[in-house]
Amino acid sequence: MNTVLITGASSGIGKATALYFQQRGWRVIATMRSPEKCPDLAQLPHCQLLALDVTNLDSVQRAITTALDTGEPIDVLVNNAGYGLVGAFEAVTPEQIQRQFDTNVFGLMTVTRALLPHFRQRRQGVVVNISSVGGQMTFPLYSLYHATKWAVEGFSESLQYELQPWNIRVKIIEPGPIKTDFYQRSADVQRSPDYTRFENRILLNIERTSQNGAPPELVAQTIYRASTDRSWQLRYPADPLARSLLWLRKLIPDGLFTALIRRQLISHNQSSELTG
Ligand SMILES: NC(=O)c1ccc[n+]([C@@H]2O[C@H](COP(=O)([O-])OP(=O)(O)OC[C@H]3O[C@@H](n4cnc5c(N)ncnc54)[C@H](OP(=O)(O)O)[C@@H]3O)[C@@H](O)[C@H]2O)c1
Repeated sequence: MNTVLITGASSGIGKATALYFQQRGWRVIATMRSPEKCPDLAQLPHCQLLALDVTNLDSVQRAITTALDTGEPIDVLVNNAGYGLVGAFEAVTPEQIQRQFDTNVFGLMTVTRALLPHFRQRRQGVVVNISSVGGQMTFPLYSLYHATKWAVEGFSESLQYELQPWNIRVKIIEPGPIKTDFYQRSADVQRSPDYTRFENRILLNIERTSQNGAPPELVAQTIYRASTDRSWQLRYPADPLARSLLWLRKLIPDGLFTALIRRQLISHNQSSELTG
């Protein structure tokens, strides 16, 4: 029986992924900050819940040690835990910036470092990093979130070179808008009186986008494919909108792409009218 360890499995993409693998006969180690919040997952056969906060080194080491103490190997790591900091760059606090990077970047690296010796010892393993279309393009008010996802993309792309000789595959999953807690409960939204009109416009568009998001099961399906296809393919757009956006991003020049984003998300008028 193969084993997958997933971070941030309490909701959204992480939880859908836990269910998807479990239904396909995998042993699932579903890690999350508060396992008591997920009694439904805990009841499933071959599904083990472990407390793991990616920003806490002790918590990561404890969870990985517990997972490996069973003697069963881990085949796939899904680095999924993450959230979005939304707001004008100058309005967010240094603590908000730190937490965004601690979770989305350094947390992902900490969990990866904790499992790599195990993968190298076995000379096999798959590291699946959940990025975003926002790891290849940007939208307004998400500058810090994008900075983390672009970091995940660069980190993953380089990491693949040194891990390939050990037969360890690195995969990047790029979802478009997905209907999860990402846009509400999990979002860290910082408003500023200096950007009110701009924020109102963008937050309304984000709200609309989130309502039309694809189901997290689509991303789970892509994660499963990336984990099991035994290829060295690096990037996996996760849903039809992600595929179209990433295709467009590659096809057209930067200036035209950012003009399209401005037109779609900010204003048909001059964006200078949106100050204050
Ligand atoms: N939804 C989208 O449109 C979208 C698009 C592209 C990429 N993504 C990425 O997909 C991933 C999953 O997001 P989602 O859409 O499924 O949102 P979600 O439902 O809000 O899930 C986020 C998960 O991350 C966990 N988490 C946050 N901080 C953590 C920490 N310090 N340690 C451990 N777990 C932590 C949350 O745990 P708690 O329950 O304890 O808060 C939750 O389980 C994220 O990396 C996100 O950036 C999402």
